[in-house]
Amino acid sequence: MLKTILAIETSCDETALALVEATGGLAQPRFKILKHFVASQIETHRPFGGVVPNLAKREHLKNLPILYGQIFGSGVREQALWKKIDYITVTSGPGLEPALWTGIIFAQALAKKWKRPLLGANHLEGHLYSFLLAQKRGVTSHGSWVKEIFPAIALIVSGGHTILLKLDDLTHLKKLGETRDDAAGEAFDKVARLLELPYPGGPEIEKLARKGNPNAIPFPRPMLHPVQQQNRHGASQKNPSTSSGQAYDFSFSGLKTAVLYYFRDNPKANKADIAASTQEAIVDVLSQKTFRAVKELDAHSVLLSGGVAANKALRNRFTIESKKMKIPLFVAEFQYNTDNAVMIAVSSYVNLLRGKKYRLVAQGDRNI
Ligand code: KG4
Ligand code: ZN
Repeated sequence: MLKTILAIETSCDETALALVEATGGLAQPRFKILKHFVASQIETHRPFGGVVPNLAKREHLKNLPILYGQIFGSGVREQALWKKIDYITVTSGPGLEPALWTGIIFAQALAKKWKRPLLGANHLEGHLYSFLLAQKRGVTSHGSWVKEIFPAIALIVSGGHTILLKLDDLTHLKKLGETRDDAAGEAFDKVARLLELPYPGGPEIEKLARKGNPNAIPFPRPMLHPVQQQNRHGASQKNPSTSSGQAYDFSFSGLKTAVLYYFRDNPKANKADIAASTQEAIVDVLSQKTFRAVKELDAHSVLLSGGVAANKALRNRFTIESKKMKIPLFVAEFQYNTDNAVMIAVSSYVNLLRGKKYRLVAQGDRNI
């Protein structure tokens, strides 16, 4: 079946709309991106060093009609386009509730006016299924390529979440672990703030890290070696929080604290070295946990997604490790790692195929 989907995403600080064509069943879904736009609010939030929910809401309200106009125009063109559209989908969580509501209400108005079904979508599933947009599918160019990549290990790394999953097929997911405190993106953002870099910190740390030495400072690899952790004076100590912990959980708040103390004690330290060493610590933890899961659970592929997946050091490490293990790595193009509406269209189509529905109310803390 061919479905033309209008997708809307307003969960955080990007307003995004996309028009996507989807075909194929769960064994081989295919997507064609007709149009997609993202209006970033970075400049609005930058002075505050993070996303301010009410400002996000205001910006979404301003940007939604602008993006809509870019896709649809008005009059005859608008009507002609709506003839093609089968359904509308909108992110209903997780995210900032005031921001989520702007998208939901906008989508509801369109659904009513143009008499189209409206489906809720899960932002994290959007990230997860963005791998279906990966150009190089690596496994086979014909037949049911999706089947051959399972079981798969998926890592979602965004500003709000760090989640490791096992997928037995496209729709059967098991959460292996997640962060106990800060998400990986949050760790990048917080360290960037310590280094007085602008928000969002991930891309800034990445840029600065290119000029630094990743091995300059041995920052802790949180929960990588659960028994031995270093305290801020460099001495080994037992970490009580991990003794009963899950092998695949993450914790990044200690890294931020370690950088804080290091910078305080070494105010003249080279910031590029701090950035490179921080990035290296995060990449080490994410890749070692993911590929440990691949090995222990005998996975056939790795799926990497979320805003932090736009980080080249992380992508490179995952490419190297997956080559070593002779399994394919699926990661979408850069523009589909950070928040966008194409991934929302993709996940809504997967859910349509399997008959999974989300309620159309903002659910800020809904998980996967
Ligand atoms: O997925 P995303 O766009 O939004 C959420 O769902 O949270 O992820 C945003 C996060 C931010 O923390 C941002 O700093 C981080 O992704 N990020 C990066 C890079 N680009 C975005 N982190 C590291 N390196 C990057 N190049
Ligand atoms: Zn996101």
